[in-house]
Amino acid sequence: MNTAEIVALTEDYGMKTYNRQPLALVRGAGCRVWDAEGRCFLDFVGGIATAAVGHCHPRVVAAVQEQAGQLIHTSNLFYTEPQARLARRLAELTGLDRVFFCNSGTEAVEAAIKLARRFAVAVRGEDRRRTIIAALNSFHGRTLGALAATGQEKYHRGFEPLPGGFDYVPYNDVEALARAVDETVAAVILEPVQGEGGVIPAAPDYLQAARELTRERGALLIMDEVQTGLGRTGRWLACERAGIRPDIVTLAKGLGGGVPIGAMVATAEAAQGFVPGTHASTFGGNPLACRAALAVLDVIEQEHLVEAAAERGAQLLGLLDELVVKYHLREARGAGLMVGLDLGRPGAPDVVRLARERGLLVNATGPQTLRLLPPLVVTADEIEEGVRILDECLSVWQSAA
Ligand SMILES: Cc1ncc(COP(=O)(O)O)c(C=O)c1O
Repeated sequence: MNTAEIVALTEDYGMKTYNRQPLALVRGAGCRVWDAEGRCFLDFVGGIATAAVGHCHPRVVAAVQEQAGQLIHTSNLFYTEPQARLARRLAELTGLDRVFFCNSGTEAVEAAIKLARRFAVAVRGEDRRRTIIAALNSFHGRTLGALAATGQEKYHRGFEPLPGGFDYVPYNDVEALARAVDETVAAVILEPVQGEGGVIPAAPDYLQAARELTRERGALLIMDEVQTGLGRTGRWLACERAGIRPDIVTLAKGLGGGVPIGAMVATAEAAQGFVPGTHASTFGGNPLACRAALAVLDVIEQEHLVEAAAERGAQLLGLLDELVVKYHLREARGAGLMVGLDLGRPGAPDVVRLARERGLLVNATGPQTLRLLPPLVVTADEIEEGVRILDECLSVWQSAA
């Protein structure tokens, strides 16, 4: 099928939930993808941070192929070696103790909310501790619980009534958090860098204050690292920048290198909130997804991609800073290879289109911010190439304005 045919068929039969770019992709390798007509693109969307080790990394492909020929799925009625090994690996990486596997970021958040509430009630015997505090402008997912935790009204509209017991505080505001965390709060959930909200990093002292306040007042701290986790920001976990250890971490996106998998990792203490029968997933932690994730983690470690993300991220931010000055934009911001370019005025969708026409894929989070999430294997030359294209696009965009 060609692009026009694929687009038409999707538009005829797919639910209208996405505003897609008019591009049908058929192949990927490293930081490049190809469309149905064979055109090549430099991919700085990176599957929205899923292509951590690049597209179709040979080691991930080999692991998936081998596992597919051996056992694709069983269920959580039985044990499998890939799940056991991945659980240990994630516990070691996060400095936490126990892992629940699921299939997406939303499900990881949902599991974290359920664990926090049940821990308060069933383990601590604190019936009043039900509230989950989240930040305004946050994004935690689309199921009703994760949606209720998402502090942006535009995502709520039309889906009310949402589950109760969620309160919102301004992000990066220690005083507001201190006022909100009382004896009715089961957990505070925060992204260490708000992703969908426009790539807005938390101040390290804000995360430290969140850690102290929750500990002092008997609530759990959940770090939603679905987008930031596993090397993306130049650390294994973005919250390491603040030197804190949360009670619960949610992971997904980069974990499977594109194969759907999510994980909710908790301290041994918090994990007591779940006992058999309290939470489950048919597909969660299936051997195929776990083998992919084990291969992804091996690649990140052996190819030193956490360090690479820090270095290439600094390079990218430095080059974007030059564009900020040149085109009088608001700012470039981010951490590692999670970078936002705030134009300071609406126009991000136009720049996305101009970039695509010149062979670069980026996306817009909101009308004025471009988001760049290159695979962690991106080279210095590819960063320069991407920024060169962006430079050209901004010049065209500005002269058209
Ligand atoms: C911080 C964060 N949490 C949760 C989610 C939801 O993840 P998923 O789309 O895999 O359900 C996202 C997705 O963008 C995210 O960025």
